[in-house]
Amino acid sequence: MDFNYTEEQLMVKKTARDYAQRELLTDVIERDTNAEYPTQHVKNVAELGFFGILVAPEYGGVGMDNISYAIALEEISKVDSSVAVIMAVHNSLTCYGIEKYGNDAQKEKYLPDLVSGEKIGAFLLSEPEAGSDASFQKTTAEDKGDYYLLNGVKNWITSANTAEIYLVMAQTNPELGHKGINAFIVDRNSDGISLGPHEDKMGMRSSDTHSVMFTDVKVPKENRIGEDGFGFKFAMKLLEGGRIGIAAQALGIATGAYDLALKYSKERKAFGTEIINHQAIAFKLADMATEIETARLLVHKAAWLKDNNQPYGTISAMAKLFATDVAMKITTEAVQILGGYGYVKEYHVERLMREAKLTQIYEGTSEIQKMVISRAISRD
Ligand code: CAA
Repeated sequence: MDFNYTEEQLMVKKTARDYAQRELLTDVIERDTNAEYPTQHVKNVAELGFFGILVAPEYGGVGMDNISYAIALEEISKVDSSVAVIMAVHNSLTCYGIEKYGNDAQKEKYLPDLVSGEKIGAFLLSEPEAGSDASFQKTTAEDKGDYYLLNGVKNWITSANTAEIYLVMAQTNPELGHKGINAFIVDRNSDGISLGPHEDKMGMRSSDTHSVMFTDVKVPKENRIGEDGFGFKFAMKLLEGGRIGIAAQALGIATGAYDLALKYSKERKAFGTEIINHQAIAFKLADMATEIETARLLVHKAAWLKDNNQPYGTISAMAKLFATDVAMKITTEAVQILGGYGYVKEYHVERLMREAKLTQIYEGTSEIQKMVISRAISRD
């Protein structure tokens, strides 16, 4: 077992870190305050290769491993989780979904624009009544011969407004339950697609989240992914990998808050000495450092399993469950260590705390991860 990063992984870490610390950091507070979409940053991050980091070079991608991907997400999330979530949904769900399960024509048509960042991807599974219970799809995809007719509403869609390539799950044969669900590649500019208002979120405020309405949207037959009825399993498979991305994001949020708390505790004096010299603070930092190391082991193990074509769904659920709880705990402690400074925007940790909360909710709540893990261990 080798815990060292490869030369390539070190290069990814440096590239992502440099961009995050030099560029994202300069205007992250302003973008968060104004809920402003990071248009230029998304372009720049795509130019660095991070919007096709997992995709094979034959489609223009960088073809790196999932550990590199997790490292990049961790570094970006230390500073700006809005950029990280746009990148995560684009890579783990949209690009991976098309590359792994699409046919040759779909890959050739959609992947080059996705990996260059020319087009952003979104994943449309959740609905007003189908969040955790994802098989309860009310959006319908009626088979009309050479096309499907989409009708329904999707909720909480990351990049709903900026994405041009949607992966949409919809029910074709309700009597078959989850086996009647299909997955489609849908052009965002199709007639009949409209958006709800921009969601005014507590955290990750500069990613664009909306509900999406489909009214008699025609989707060509060739845009269905896989066999008829493959849509639910497709979504579940993608979320297994998506959870590695969110776990890496949570790890980055936790590490970002820990770094700031550590720095502050070495500078701030109280009762005649730097506060790190008080056990009340030093022990908090010791716990934080230990939890971050543990979370990173789980995240990288899940990524390694995926890279080595071994089952990774249970470990990715564990990584997401653990890393997101760690992010919530560590960001809360970081605010406590910084005291009043922790509670104002200028010092960043309050924003990281708001961002941490979302990681416990999306791509499956903590309770869903426990459901996935408990079902797996009861089968063993
Ligand atoms: N891989 C392959 N197949 C799977 C699977 C997996 N990981 N998980 C389940 N399946 C299959 C089962 O084998 C079963 O197939 P058969 O009937 O052929 O045996 C079928 O799917 C149904 O399985 P379950 O009975 O276990 O399904 P369920 O209805 O009980 O749901 C669940 C399972 C894990 C709770 C699932 O509904 C789930 O993951 N819910 C959470 C959804 C979620 O994460 N949503 C996030 C939205 S995406 C998002 O947030 C994007 C964004 O923009 C940020």
